[in-house]
Amino acid sequence: MHIKQNISLKPYNTFGIDVNARYFISVSVIVELKTVLSLENHPNKLLIGGGSNMLLTKDFDGLVIHINLKGIEIISEDDQCVTIKANAGENWHEFVLWCLKNNFGGIENLSLIPGNVGTAPIQNIGAYGVELKDVFVSCEALSLDSKSIKTFSKEDCKFGYRNSVFKNTERGKHIITSVTFKLTKQSHKLNINYGAITSELNKMGIKEPTIQDVSKAVIFIRESKLPNPKEIGNSGSFFKNPVISKDLFNQLQDNFEDIPSYPVSEDEVKVPAGWLIEKAGFKGKRFGDYGIHKKQALVLVNYGNANGEDIVKLSKLIQKTIKRLFNVSIEAEVNII
Ligand code: EPU
Repeated sequence: MHIKQNISLKPYNTFGIDVNARYFISVSVIVELKTVLSLENHPNKLLIGGGSNMLLTKDFDGLVIHINLKGIEIISEDDQCVTIKANAGENWHEFVLWCLKNNFGGIENLSLIPGNVGTAPIQNIGAYGVELKDVFVSCEALSLDSKSIKTFSKEDCKFGYRNSVFKNTERGKHIITSVTFKLTKQSHKLNINYGAITSELNKMGIKEPTIQDVSKAVIFIRESKLPNPKEIGNSGSFFKNPVISKDLFNQLQDNFEDIPSYPVSEDEVKVPAGWLIEKAGFKGKRFGDYGIHKKQALVLVNYGNANGEDIVKLSKLIQKTIKRLFNVSIEAEVNII
């Protein structure tokens, strides 16, 4: 076991924030993870998976544990379906590509989402009409208290929009070590009704798309709108799309005829935060090394050496402005540490 000292966390968070960890260890087997968690001389610990949903604001004066558990295994299969267990440290997109290569369907719409397999259930990652929960069977997690592995079924996880039990009652109590998925081997159920996908497939001249075609369309759309974290630091959507009452929506519509919305329930709708932020004039604004992405206002970016605190200040200014202009509260999706 090798604990390093004074390590920059810049390569371990997709925002590319350069803060230091006092101590750092990358763990690739569960026994080692258990040992590290039991270290009494390191009471202050921070876990990092793909580092794709966090904004680091200061040096971490404790032990950072990088979850690097690798491995993908087929648990069972029949003619129609396959059950696959992937370990937490597998890169999400590489896992998607592995599934596509094997012609396993269900997660093609989730192509190119940054992060790792193990963090995907925490916020129930989603894009273009598909959410992780649609293919999720169960996950295994190491309890920080008992150091034993517990299995969480889909029901146990209580998935919601960018939400799960791991963000609520079970927050900070477990480390997800693997996720089990059920995918299709044939008669794939394609989700191509999301506007941009249909038009992209049309542009590609594809009438009967395969799961690989859908993935290509998704990759194309994402690349044209969302910054690649390897080039411009970011954490995807910084805010969640707010759910507001229909009454408020109707009032807003009086002033802003073009306001988009998605149905949620009889009295509520979801409004794209990206639209509100753009309308408020923030889209593409740059303040030195940080700002709001020019093609998708929901994404805050680090152009180089931004400081996490500056990005937090910008996010608060955006929240305040959206509240003042539209009377809508928007909540950060990213964890601020
Ligand atoms: N919009 C604007 N201006 C913008 C951005 C968006 O007017 O700058 C409008 C668009 O015109 C469209 C609507 O907002 O009418 C929705 O935009 P988009 O399809 O880009 O999706 P989103 O609601 O902004 C969500 C997810 C993304 C996911 C996309 C596609 C959340 C918080 N974000 O964004 O997820 O890729 O849908 O399904 O739900 C992520 O979570 O990190 C992420 C990137």
